[in-house]
Amino acid sequence: MQDHVGPMTLSERADELEEQMMNELNERIATRSVLFGMGDGKIEIESGATLQARHPGKFFLMGADPRLPKMPDKPTLLDFFKARFASTNHLLQSATHALEAGLDEKTILACLLHDIGVVSFIRCDHGYWGAQLIEPYVEEEVSWAIRVHQALRFFPDESVGYKYPDMYVKLFGPDYRPEPYIVAEYERARNHKWYMTARQICINDIYSFDPDAKVNLDDFVDIIGRNFRQPKEGLGFDNSPSAHMWRTLMWPTRFL
Ligand SMILES: [Fe+2]
Ligand SMILES: [Fe+2]
Repeated sequence: MQDHVGPMTLSERADELEEQMMNELNERIATRSVLFGMGDGKIEIESGATLQARHPGKFFLMGADPRLPKMPDKPTLLDFFKARFASTNHLLQSATHALEAGLDEKTILACLLHDIGVVSFIRCDHGYWGAQLIEPYVEEEVSWAIRVHQALRFFPDESVGYKYPDMYVKLFGPDYRPEPYIVAEYERARNHKWYMTARQICINDIYSFDPDAKVNLDDFVDIIGRNFRQPKEGLGFDNSPSAHMWRTLMWPTRFL
């Protein structure tokens, strides 16, 4: 490390942070994918050779990142809830409302999983990502409802007392209008046989932002057991069309 005469520059501070990180990693080099940098407004990638030259004698991380909670060899959905989802309160509140309203188990599961895209992966198009993650393991109605809830959230349905959310006015401003692909998704969903399942996600969604709500994942373990086909090899190792996505959540800093 360099000696500092004045305050550290940003890049010195970044170097120091990186060095700290390296120490925690036991000599393996963890890499940030391009997408991570885009969050800071940068499109850049460092070649493996350049990165390794800065850390002579060290190899790249090709598995679990020791800074993140440890995952079992055969992870289940519950393991991801506990070790990879940044926040589960909103999901549990939504599912609790659905449970208390006496809705069917498929709808409760859809409420429980409706925002896993946001809490584990990425905000943009979270309904689509969330649906894709679970599609191989649930009834089609569940993943369909999760996919379209993203669009439905922007459109009122007076028949069930669902208005355009005040929260969206606050978050996106009074002039925001959904893009044409969202409008088209809504129009397709409006006439679909499972429309009301997706609408139920929206209804339970709006009452699920209470920071003091007491919720418990244990209330949903049986419903998950009956309605989510947990692969015996573990999520990520079952060769399903979304297995790679679960692996990426497990090992987000692997070199390849
Ligand atoms: Fe959502
Ligand atoms: Fe939500």
